[in-house]
Amino acid sequence: MMYRSVAITTLLAFPIVHALVQKDGVGKLPALGWNSWNAFGCDVNETKIMIAANSMVNLGLQDSGYEYVNIDDCWAVKSGRDNLTGQIIPDPEKFPSGIKGVADAIHALGLKVGIYGSAGTETCGGYPAQIGHESLDAATFAAWGIDYFKYDNCYVPSNWTDQYTACVPDAWQTYGPYINGTCAKSSSDAPAGYDWSTSNTAHRYAIMRDALLAQNRTILYSLCEWGQADVVVWGNTTGNSWRMSGDINPWWARIAEILNENSFLLNNVNFWGHNDMDMLEIGNGNLTLAESRSHFAFWAAMKSPLIIGTALDVLPTTHVDILRNEYLLAFHQDTLYGGPATPYKWGTNPDWTFNATNPAEYWSGKSKQGTLVLALNTLDTKAQREIVWSEVHDLEDGCDAFEVVDIWSGEKLGCVERGIKTVVSGHDTAGYIVGKKCTQHGR
Ligand SMILES: *[C@@H]1O[C@H](CO)[C@@H](O)[C@H](O)[C@H]1NC(C)=O
Ligand SMILES: *[C@@H]1O[C@H](CO)[C@@H](O)[C@H](O)[C@H]1NC(C)=O
Ligand SMILES: *[C@@H]1O[C@H](CO)[C@@H](O)[C@H](O)[C@H]1NC(C)=O
Ligand SMILES: *[C@@H]1O[C@H](CO)[C@@H](O)[C@H](O)[C@H]1NC(C)=O
Ligand SMILES: *[C@@H]1O[C@H](CO)[C@@H](O)[C@H](O)[C@H]1NC(C)=O
Ligand SMILES: *[C@@H]1O[C@H](CO)[C@@H](O)[C@H](O)[C@H]1NC(C)=O
Ligand SMILES: *[C@@H]1O[C@H](CO)[C@@H](O)[C@H](O)[C@H]1NC(C)=O
Ligand SMILES: *[C@@H]1O[C@H](CO)[C@@H](O)[C@H](O)[C@H]1NC(C)=O
Repeated sequence: MMYRSVAITTLLAFPIVHALVQKDGVGKLPALGWNSWNAFGCDVNETKIMIAANSMVNLGLQDSGYEYVNIDDCWAVKSGRDNLTGQIIPDPEKFPSGIKGVADAIHALGLKVGIYGSAGTETCGGYPAQIGHESLDAATFAAWGIDYFKYDNCYVPSNWTDQYTACVPDAWQTYGPYINGTCAKSSSDAPAGYDWSTSNTAHRYAIMRDALLAQNRTILYSLCEWGQADVVVWGNTTGNSWRMSGDINPWWARIAEILNENSFLLNNVNFWGHNDMDMLEIGNGNLTLAESRSHFAFWAAMKSPLIIGTALDVLPTTHVDILRNEYLLAFHQDTLYGGPATPYKWGTNPDWTFNATNPAEYWSGKSKQGTLVLALNTLDTKAQREIVWSEVHDLEDGCDAFEVVDIWSGEKLGCVERGIKTVVSGHDTAGYIVGKKCTQHGR
């Protein structure tokens, strides 16, 4: 009986909520920031957070638009909540200033601060989590001055699991072959037409949304339920961004895999709602500079939140420069065009091929500065890539010459006729801003 009444309340509640549209504009554009997890995992403390915050200022990342400093898992006392107030207690050894003290210090730098929890009984690291405590914790976070909340999906109690399985195009969570955006049938699949916005997963995440919205403070809401329960269809009525896959790893095969998956999930990306391709791995693992360029270019082009995940005090300038790329950041933060870049041609594979190692290679998207055109080389060795203006759907039909800028060198290539042929290293991406049409000869 209890189960039923909860479900009915949910159904009634959904139609009156219209995304997380905030009066101050927060969440309209994909977020820019830093998070502790990919750099430090559970080994986090206030010193490391403040080094990251100060580095964001000193390296010019703040000037480039990065604003959130996000504390991920393992910030709390593990053994339990405050016996009197029921609040989560910040670990006094890792955070001697408390989360409030750290938040004040981050705010004093002109930056914002994020924190982490889970829609279950414990966080993924086994720390106190939110289910059953949503209102109290949202109020606590607001009182501490929190601006961003990442909500993970660990330790879901058995009475909150979903009735059906949904297609998740992910190596770790496959419920059937995923071809061109549709799943093959299995016996536990949701029936045709099943509305995933009525699922227990959607309900768990909506409870926290309402708790955050009830606070007198704007808190950006970042869903981290790993792309399950068809989140792309209800994410926009629940949070500002939603993870569309399992966790990222700092090597190319995983970057290419997420790039491929997300390229089939772009219909629900626009102002106020963004697929989160997970935090950046630039500076980590064995990603080469070429792979780091492609990683950044496609996360920006698909308008994923760009959350840096590395130790900034030791990051080489070459990598900082990628993170500060003005053309890609301008595309990502465009206030006129909310949609992502999309593939106009697959390249190595036939169009619309779902392939984890060799995803779509030729992409374009409109922005105020011009059309962003990317050509990725998914092969392991260098190869020629040819961009032909007439194939790029975002360019004006019947026009064969445009002013072009190279996004990596900043070089103005002048008036370029027909297109661009260039040799691209393995896993690297050539990128251009294709601007005004032109008629000048001589190039
Ligand atoms: C699961 O159990 C908890 C505790 O009894 C209850 O508050 C919650 O509503 C239940 N969830 C569902 C989906 O019924
Ligand atoms: C709560 O009270 C119990 C019993 O007195 C005690 O063992 C525990 O350490 C207390 N927990 C916290 C977080 O203060
Ligand atoms: C945080 O960890 C670093 C590296 O282990 C250490 O140098 C620093 O003292 C720690 N800070 C706190 C507040 O524990
Ligand atoms: C894949 O989907 C696209 C867009 O809906 C469609 O144009 C294309 O024909 C589909 N391809 C296959 C193999 O189903
Ligand atoms: C909400 O916050 C604003 C700005 O901090 C403050 O001026 C206002 O008094 C608060 N309103 C309530 C109802 O607490
Ligand atoms: C997401 O919601 C916002 C606010 O209601 C709306 O402007 C936007 O178009 C929605 N996104 C999509 C892809 O429908
Ligand atoms: C990078 O690391 C991954 C994971 O350890 C490994 O599978 C891959 O072969 C490595 N790539 C290179 C080029 O070393
Ligand atoms: C992915 O595409 C490459 C290049 O065409 C091909 O060699 C590989 O077999 C494909 N992978 C799968 C799983 O089909």
